[in-house]
Amino acid sequence: MSAHDPSNGYEGVAEQFIRARSEIGSATVRDWAAQLPNGAHVLDLGCGHGDPNIPILLDVGCRVSAIDAAPSLLSVLKDHYPAVETACEPVETSDFFGRKFDGILAVGLIFLLPRDAQSRLIQNVSDALKPSGRFLVSAPQRSGSWEDLVTKRRSVSLGDEIYKTNLLKAGFEAIESRWDRGGSHYYSAQKA
Ligand SMILES: C[S@@+](CC[C@H](N)C(=O)[O-])C[C@H]1O[C@@H](n2cnc3c(N)ncnc32)[C@H](O)[C@@H]1O
Repeated sequence: MSAHDPSNGYEGVAEQFIRARSEIGSATVRDWAAQLPNGAHVLDLGCGHGDPNIPILLDVGCRVSAIDAAPSLLSVLKDHYPAVETACEPVETSDFFGRKFDGILAVGLIFLLPRDAQSRLIQNVSDALKPSGRFLVSAPQRSGSWEDLVTKRRSVSLGDEIYKTNLLKAGFEAIESRWDRGGSHYYSAQKA
């Protein structure tokens, strides 16, 4: 895979990722989904092969659109969940951001992106949410970098202060912290 792989290494480790992905985080997504209006249209950024999050959204009656830059992962999602509208493209340039959603989630994605792209993504998410729309994004509170367990590439956390500043600047309020049973941290925020 080239250095310009838009999936940040995940296309090359797709089978390994599918085998390794557990249910961890699903309770957090289920709680978040319960706050959405009936029949909400949700966009899943960096959706992977869809499990465990897409079936949770479908089960509560959401209409789901999903983006991932790894064709092998997205192809599994399409086989399992044909009702989901998908786009195989980088989130940085996705046409989905020209539309409006009730909720957007990004689990395991934002810290794979370069720093500037992380800040831009938060603004793009806000622009693509309807008023009172909700955003769930997993990101460590502590700033720093680490090696992704599956791809061995560097991941970068901007840290709590910068993530919260970016969320506030982008027009989010009611920013809350959540943790899953694996200890991963999430920001749950609502657009004003
Ligand atoms: C850690 S996995 C998380 C997948 C899924 N959200 C989950 O919870 O299992 C990260 C996903 O983000 C995708 N990804 C990485 N960089 C991306 C980008 N720039 N644009 C779109 N998808 C990207 C990868 O292909 C991979 O499926």
